[in-house]
Amino acid sequence: MKLLFHTTLFYLFLILIQVQAKCRTGCTLAFASYYIWQGSNLTYISTIFNQQISEILAYNPQVSSQDQINTGTRINVPFSCDCLNGDFLGHTFTYNTQHGDTYDKIASNFYANLTTEDWVRRVNMYDPTKIPAPGTINVTVNCSCGDRKVSKDFGLFMTWPLRPGESLSSIAVESNVSEELLEKYNPGSNFSAGSGLVFVPAKDQTGNFPPLRISRVIAGISIAGVSGALILVFCIYAGIYRRKKVVEASFLEDHYIQQGRGSGGTLKKHSETTALFASPGLTGITVDVSVEFSYEELAKATNDFSNANKIGQGGFGAVYFAELRGEKAAIKKMDMQASKEFLAELKVLTHVHHLNLVRLIGYCVEGSLFLVYEFIENGNLSQHLRKKDQRDSLPWPARVQIALDSARGLEYIHEHTVPLYIHRDIKSPNILIDKNFRAKVADFGLAKLTEFGNNSLQTRLVGTFGYMPPEYAQYGDVSPKVDVYAFGVVLFELISAREAVVKTNEEVTESVGLVALFEDVLDQSDPREDLQKLIDPRLGDDYSFDAICKMARLAKACTQENPQLRPSMRSIVVALMTLSSATEDWDVGSLYENKALINIMSGR
Ligand SMILES: Nc1ncnc2c1ncn2[C@@H]1O[C@H](COP(=O)(O)OP(=O)(O)OP(=O)(O)O)[C@@H](O)[C@H]1O
Ligand SMILES: *[C@@H]1O[C@H](CO)[C@@H](O)[C@H](O)[C@H]1NC(C)=O
Ligand SMILES: *[C@@H]1O[C@H](CO)[C@@H](O)[C@H](O)[C@H]1NC(C)=O
Ligand SMILES: *[C@@H]1O[C@H](CO)[C@@H](O)[C@H](O)[C@H]1NC(C)=O
Ligand SMILES: *[C@@H]1O[C@H](CO)[C@@H](O)[C@H](O)[C@H]1NC(C)=O
Ligand SMILES: *[C@@H]1O[C@H](CO)[C@@H](O)[C@H](O)[C@H]1NC(C)=O
Ligand SMILES: *[C@@H]1O[C@H](CO)[C@@H](O)[C@H](O)[C@H]1NC(C)=O
Repeated sequence: MKLLFHTTLFYLFLILIQVQAKCRTGCTLAFASYYIWQGSNLTYISTIFNQQISEILAYNPQVSSQDQINTGTRINVPFSCDCLNGDFLGHTFTYNTQHGDTYDKIASNFYANLTTEDWVRRVNMYDPTKIPAPGTINVTVNCSCGDRKVSKDFGLFMTWPLRPGESLSSIAVESNVSEELLEKYNPGSNFSAGSGLVFVPAKDQTGNFPPLRISRVIAGISIAGVSGALILVFCIYAGIYRRKKVVEASFLEDHYIQQGRGSGGTLKKHSETTALFASPGLTGITVDVSVEFSYEELAKATNDFSNANKIGQGGFGAVYFAELRGEKAAIKKMDMQASKEFLAELKVLTHVHHLNLVRLIGYCVEGSLFLVYEFIENGNLSQHLRKKDQRDSLPWPARVQIALDSARGLEYIHEHTVPLYIHRDIKSPNILIDKNFRAKVADFGLAKLTEFGNNSLQTRLVGTFGYMPPEYAQYGDVSPKVDVYAFGVVLFELISAREAVVKTNEEVTESVGLVALFEDVLDQSDPREDLQKLIDPRLGDDYSFDAICKMARLAKACTQENPQLRPSMRSIVVALMTLSSATEDWDVGSLYENKALINIMSGR
């Protein structure tokens, strides 16, 4: 009951933050509709928008030669539309000042009225009469990512400075959208005013209007934009809670710590959870604050990153075993440079602790980027499922437990961290198994990190074929349901021990996804016989067919085409808990000497 009260208040708190924050996420692409004035050229435009000419040309098929752009026309300059301060959508360009520049000249001449003198003044600390030259200043251009309430058919917008002589009808014709729609997107704008900004739906490189992408990456909730009222709610909440139980109040503080507001602090709430589920002998390098390692120390710990120490190779880089400060660690070497945002994000990640998440202990940024993780002894789930020897194969109760553990890890990043994360690359090789056969999710937070790493405006599709839901593979739509889908595929793997993509023919590249394979069977009026054929033969007879049916049905629900119909990780955890307690009667004692673990596995 107390817990219910706690959770309810906490969600109220989160909801309030979201209401207060005017935007939560931006979009990777928006256009600045730049009016070409006499004397401007692509080199110049490329410089002031910090954007490559080739990238600009990619969105302007009407421009035949980059040396010749027609004065009096408009070109689309692509940029990323960001949620600034949690307050509005815009992008801040850096402009290199020259002698004689004024905020007015910068806004109305150089940036062709895409911003205003007033707006430029407000994002810079310099007094308008004391702009340093040469120097750099901020130029913020507003943008739009669309509005679900108006239409879901438009997801790309131009920031369009109105010019004298233009009207609602002329812009409607030029942009090929109806007047009605333009008005809906720009309530209160006078299209004949000759000045001011409007947002106009735009076509992408394929010549089509790209649809609105539902719920992009759930980005961090900006505490900066939170009003006093909210802080009051927090205080009341923390106050009530402190009186009730000091331990749990620190949970909220941790959310602040994760925002970079403080440092240190332990996750008491989490250790409380840990106490409930922990298997004995759980160790790890226990550090409270993020740790930056030197290259020298990491090289020493891995025998100079020797091949003998290499334990894995993933899409992001190679993984090495290390003995670091007397503890075992896994070091991931990534061939990329860490930007400032990247490092800020890493610091946040080192503060996310959960029994079912592989812990990020620290990092190093000398030369390449190195991520230091706790070492997980028993390899990954994919390896376990593909073992040839039946005696080593995972027994059914262990599989249920692994499913439950991974579901808990995912539920945690979906619902309880600040910022929230979407894993985007859930698959059996990313589920690691510890010496007690408990599972931990690896690599969370990385998908988001790689976004900072490249400047391309196209959303990079992170993910693995066979685990990607249709809306993600086709449109790049990212929501927590992307992970739910991939998790469903992992459940099918646990049942069948087959790869996510089943080769039907070794020579030809013909392949069928595990999802389709199971779907065909489960859609039958009596699937029992064919389902039996899909069950991993290594399970022998040690399983309940009923339990497998339940898991298969859960997996089917997770892999539905419509993301909205897929269950949340939270309800998946509940379903798996029920399944797990039903496996109580299974004798796993012969497999584990560890009695305490058996108790946990059987939910006693
Ligand atoms: N903390 C760790 N402890 C022990 N082994 C690990 C650890 N992290 C990774 N590994 C091993 O290294 C392998 C490669 O890891 P990595 O996450 O880089 O690649 P991946 O998951 O196969 O692919 P991707 O990079 O596309 O996610 C893992 O599958 C696992 O076997
Ligand atoms: C491009 O425009 C800038 C600014 O008007 C000007 O200084 C420069 O000489 C132009 N370059 C070319 C090649 O025309
Ligand atoms: C910007 O607007 C001002 C005032 O309407 C106008 O004089 C100026 O020519 C515009 N700038 C451009 C580049 O169109
Ligand atoms: C940009 O948006 C902000 C917030 O909505 C607004 O205050 C500002 O006037 C806008 N700037 C321009 C140039 O329209
Ligand atoms: C530009 O904006 C950044 C971030 O808001 C701010 O820290 C910086 O001081 C600004 N630059 C100037 C010259 O005001
Ligand atoms: C968009 O262009 C097509 C083809 O030129 C035309 O048929 C259609 O009526 C236009 N739609 C709008 C809303 O202007
Ligand atoms: C829009 O602006 C034009 C030009 O300034 C003006 O003549 C017209 O009355 C305005 N329309 C409305 C509805 O305010």
